[in-house]
Amino acid sequence: MKAPLNDKGVISRYREFLPVGAGTPVVSLNEGSTPLIHSPRLSAKAGAEVFLKFEGLNPTGSFKDRGMTVAISKAVERGAKTVICASTGNTSAAAAAYAARAGIQCVVILPAGKIAIGKLAQAYVYGAKVVAIRGNFDDALRIVREFGGVDGVAIVNSINPDRIEGQKTAAFEVIEDLGDAPDIHILPVGNAGNITAYWKGYREFHANGRSTRLPKMAGFQAAGSAPIFFGKPVEKPDTVATAIRIGNPASWKGATDAAAESGGCIDIVSDEEILAAQAWLASNEGVFVEPASAASVAGLLKCHSAARCASCPFSTAVRPGAKVVLTVTGHGLKDTETAVRHGNFQPLEADATLEAVRAAIA
Ligand code: F0G
Repeated sequence: MKAPLNDKGVISRYREFLPVGAGTPVVSLNEGSTPLIHSPRLSAKAGAEVFLKFEGLNPTGSFKDRGMTVAISKAVERGAKTVICASTGNTSAAAAAYAARAGIQCVVILPAGKIAIGKLAQAYVYGAKVVAIRGNFDDALRIVREFGGVDGVAIVNSINPDRIEGQKTAAFEVIEDLGDAPDIHILPVGNAGNITAYWKGYREFHANGRSTRLPKMAGFQAAGSAPIFFGKPVEKPDTVATAIRIGNPASWKGATDAAAESGGCIDIVSDEEILAAQAWLASNEGVFVEPASAASVAGLLKCHSAARCASCPFSTAVRPGAKVVLTVTGHGLKDTETAVRHGNFQPLEADATLEAVRAAIA
């Protein structure tokens, strides 16, 4: 039977790979099916065929929707009346939207003053209870874990395995679009759920005979928030890419396993590299992503430079024709403040006449 019009989300498309049954109520906003955009200028720079998996085109503007459709559907199935999460902004936006869709309450715990305005607006508008704590994301997640035992309350951070299950569907889509897995997959790393999810997705489709190979997984942390790269928690994480401002990631082992098992790496990029990559991508490829997402692009450029890390997968995997996929995780419109501030943008001013406008742009 043809799926009903309103049912094209990741649960309906990948049901057999997800922990859902006939009795699971599907809470969906038609997430997923995001475009894999060929990127000619990045390809020229990298000496490989580079594609952007633009996850900013999900319903709430980030990849979090893939995991949230599964986490909220399962929470409702188990009788939850409230969902709760810690967030640097995107998880809370997705949780609030899917909870609204399900008709249940959502509580989000956020580090005060460190959430991009677009994301904060989303949590409010979708109707969540917003608690801003005097602490960072790691403090917020500690509080959320303490909620774990409360009846009727479901945690929808990626410590909930349903989130990882939903997010792995992005790897399925990449394989379907390319006809096989890419040679290298690059993505930003914060709490490390997404790199864990992609690696799981790639392995499952490979085991299922849907791809002939596995990609090398390369994860990039912001230099000021790079616990995995440095091998120890960072007490006061800092970066302009607030989405990945995390000092003690929950899926730490998932990230190191993905890098080690695939022959990839976990590396760092500076805030300057992130902001330069964000601006470059928008003005050269027409794709506006948030700062954290630009860590993928900055990472690719670093892999291709002399500054690359000792275990750089590029030294062995990249040749002309090799396929490299970059996940760009969130839409640039979520954080226009950072883009405008760092770009130092000023309009050209002119009187309201054709001559004055011509003179201004000359
Ligand atoms: N990119 C964006 C835009 C994000 O929002 C996040 C994480 C990441 C990358 C990193 O993904 O945590 O799976 O390694 N955002 C979380 C949040 C922490 O609360 O929205 P990760």
